[in-house]
Amino acid sequence: MAYGPGTRDGVILAVETSCDDTCAAVVTAGGEIRSNVIASQGLLHSRYGGVVPEIASRHHLELVDAVTADALEAAGTGLEEIDTVAVTRGPGLIGALLVGLSSAKALAAVRRLPLVPVDHLHGHVVASTLGPEPIEPPYLALVASGGHTFLARVDVPESYTVVGQTLDDAAGEAFDKGARLLGLGYPGGPAIDRLAEKGDPEVFDFPRSAPGELDFSFSGLKTALLYAIRDLGEGEADRRRPDLAASYQRAIVDALVSRTRAALEREGLRRLAIGGGVAANSELRAAVQALGVPVWVPPLELCTDNAAMIGGAARFLRPLPYPDYLSLDAAARIS
Ligand code: KG4
Ligand code: ZN
Repeated sequence: MAYGPGTRDGVILAVETSCDDTCAAVVTAGGEIRSNVIASQGLLHSRYGGVVPEIASRHHLELVDAVTADALEAAGTGLEEIDTVAVTRGPGLIGALLVGLSSAKALAAVRRLPLVPVDHLHGHVVASTLGPEPIEPPYLALVASGGHTFLARVDVPESYTVVGQTLDDAAGEAFDKGARLLGLGYPGGPAIDRLAEKGDPEVFDFPRSAPGELDFSFSGLKTALLYAIRDLGEGEADRRRPDLAASYQRAIVDALVSRTRAALEREGLRRLAIGGGVAANSELRAAVQALGVPVWVPPLELCTDNAAMIGGAARFLRPLPYPDYLSLDAAARIS
């Protein structure tokens, strides 16, 4: 049984636990999102300034059954009406991934259903193929999250080719580290986004390093922010926090948009989809609209980690029949 574009039947239950959100969703093979439940652990981790893997795994274990039940209920369905189970196999935190994978295996096995292991990043790349106005390949995908930042060429929805990527920190990581330096909470992206609205992005000239035509580098940026704060001194830095946030955000957005423009030109692509948690950024969302190509900007719940995008990718992949998937392992990294 292989789902593919155009297949209109089939209901997929998807589970995603690669980082700190416990997610389950019900999507159809035709791309309709019937439910998309996200239980965020963000507040739990905020006191540590980042995701603590062990805490994330424990909470996934506590939440995954209830979140899955919620997703089925919100979709007005039950496990007996599900045709396929999809789950994130990696990349991500290994303990967190294992909770979702074990749970998905059990859900599938009790009904001898097929299971589709999904690459988390493939989910982000094809999130815009869901919903009433899906993007059609070929297109360029800009995925920028807390763990990953890359540009991918998508000719068919079954796969993608990375054409540029960060060589060090992810864009979301740059937001999170910058936010910490500015004394804002975790996750830092939304906090910088809000503070930047009150600041002037032209005041501080933070570096836009260009390691390669389509690659990114964000690690020097946080050092530049650190020095700027030090040079200003505590009181003045505090007073200028909105300007620092706005200028820092502008540097990240400029880097993302300039490489995206270059990738569209080099690859000869005329459509763009953005995804990953950083795609929630208001300045980035506005800036990509000025690139001169149609842009698919998914709703926020499809940008940050979610299970609908995992079900979305599973539509294009071949499921493993029962019981072949029982020995399947999670993968912290996917080559
Ligand atoms: O995709 P995601 O939920 O999880 C990962 O797979 O990493 O992305 C989380 C990242 C965090 O680094 C967070 O700070 C960032 O997305 N983020 C934002 C915004 N909302 C979330 N970054 C900038 N502006 C935002 N509004
Ligand atoms: Zn993600």
